[in-house]
This record gives sequence, structure tokens and C-alpha cells, in this order.
Amino acid sequence: MQERVHNFSAGPAVLPVEVLLEIQKDLLNYKGKGMSVMEMSHRSKDYQAIFNETVESVKRVFGLGDNFEVLFLGGGATTQFLMSALNFCPPDKEANFINTGTWANNAYKEAKIIGKTANLAASSEDRNFSYIPKEFKLSDNPAYLHITSNNTIAGTQYHKYPELPQDIPLFCDMSSDIMSKPIDVNKFGLIYAGAQKNIGPAGATLVLIRKDMIERLQPDLPTMMSYQTHIKKGSMHNTPPTFIIYIIGLVMKWLENKGGLAAIEKHNQ
Ligand SMILES: Cc1ncc(COP(=O)(O)O)c(C=O)c1O
Repeated sequence: MQERVHNFSAGPAVLPVEVLLEIQKDLLNYKGKGMSVMEMSHRSKDYQAIFNETVESVKRVFGLGDNFEVLFLGGGATTQFLMSALNFCPPDKEANFINTGTWANNAYKEAKIIGKTANLAASSEDRNFSYIPKEFKLSDNPAYLHITSNNTIAGTQYHKYPELPQDIPLFCDMSSDIMSKPIDVNKFGLIYAGAQKNIGPAGATLVLIRKDMIERLQPDLPTMMSYQTHIKKGSMHNTPPTFIIYIIGLVMKWLENKGGLAAIEKHNQ
């Protein structure tokens, strides 16, 4: 093999060579099925098995237990700026945001674009996003607080997540540090991340919804914008990014073989 370069791209980012080799080995004929995973019907038994194993391995690696709905959606993390506000901010409440950089600000702006009442609970814009604000001020009737755990462009990362009253959920765009270390996932009502940085190639977004949040989902949304649709149909209301989900499954297996997130955290440090 020609020597591979050091690839520091934030995303699409480097994938483990072991995973690339396994994809290569199974590309033309996946485990004797006579076709590539790319060519399989998403409704077939063979593909459903791949999908289910990917969901289960995400749960194992990230310590989700049975507390979370695990979805694989299209549209990137950027679509989650819109979907999180649409699905979880009712008309009589406010969506709250901490602005720690470009992506956090994009989530805040998107909530406003779709007509939600959006409150900036804190911002580090005064010093060019060079820090994570310690204090924040929620609105009077907050639906949730949204943060960006790692600010890919500003280079700042939460090491301690905000503490909230029990009935106010914490939402997090974890696109650039998901599964880089073990975390207490139960602190979060909603976690989402584009796959292309830490968990696979571009084309799928991992969305984790804590099950007690389901009763808060807003009704009567356009079909593809509603988390309810994707929960009910197990991410298969329409054709999901099948090949990407398969590769995420391989990355999860690789993470488990490496010793899980505790080992990966050490390695990262
Ligand atoms: C923290 C964060 N959120 C969101 C995005 C946008 O993700 P996507 O391109 O999947 O929409 C990025 C992209 O780099 C990011 O770093």
C-alpha cells in the first residue's frame, strides 16, 4: 500500500485503516451474499441485521443502555439545528442557546429563522469565542438549553457540561467530539452528530433522543422533519444512508476492539 498521509482534516476525517481494509475485503461480495452492502435493499433481512448490529454497537460503545432512541438521518448536523427546534420548542416556550462559535450560533440562528423564540443564555463572542462561558441565564419558560460540546473552528471544548434543573433538558451538538471519551449520556435529552468526524464517513447523522423526551415531541410537523416519523419507522421511513451506517458499525466494532471510549480517551490525550 502506498504510504498514507497524516490527515488532520476536521471532517470528512481519517478512518481506521482496519475499517477501510474490511470494507475493501467485503466490497464486491459481502459475506457471500453475492453483492455489495451498497446494493442491498434496506428492507432486506441481511441489511436489517447490519443495521440492528450498528444500533446495538452504538448503544454499547456510548453507554446508552435502553434509555435512548438511536436514529441515523440524512441532512448533516446542520439539519438538526432545524429539527431540534421544530420538534422540541412549543409555541409557549423558548429555545435557549449558549453561543460558543460558528456552529452554536448557526443553531441559534436557525431556531429564529423558523420562528421560534430563541434566547441567548450566554455567549463568548466578546473575546472571539476563546472561552466557554461559566455562567448563563435561561429565559423564563425554557424548552431546553442547546450547547455545542466542541467548537470545531474556535477550538474550545466543554470539560464540564452545564447543570440544569431536572425538567429542563440539555441538548448537544456533539459533531466534533462524540465518542472521543466516555461521558454521562443521561445528562442529555438530545445528542446529535454528523458522522464524518469521529464515527464514519459523511452522509449520516447520528441522533440520540432520551426516551423521556418523546412525550415532548411537537405534533403535526412535515413528515421528514418529525423525529416521531423516524422513531416509529426505525430510521427507515425513507431509504437511509445504508452504506454509511454499515461503516459506522465497523467503526464501532473497531472502537470496542481498541478497549472502548476509556482507551480512546487515553489515546487522544
Ligand atoms: C460542531 C459542528 N456542528 C455542525 C457542523 C455541520 O455539520 P454538517 O456538515 O454535518 O451539517 C460541523 C461541521 O464541521 C461542526 O463542526
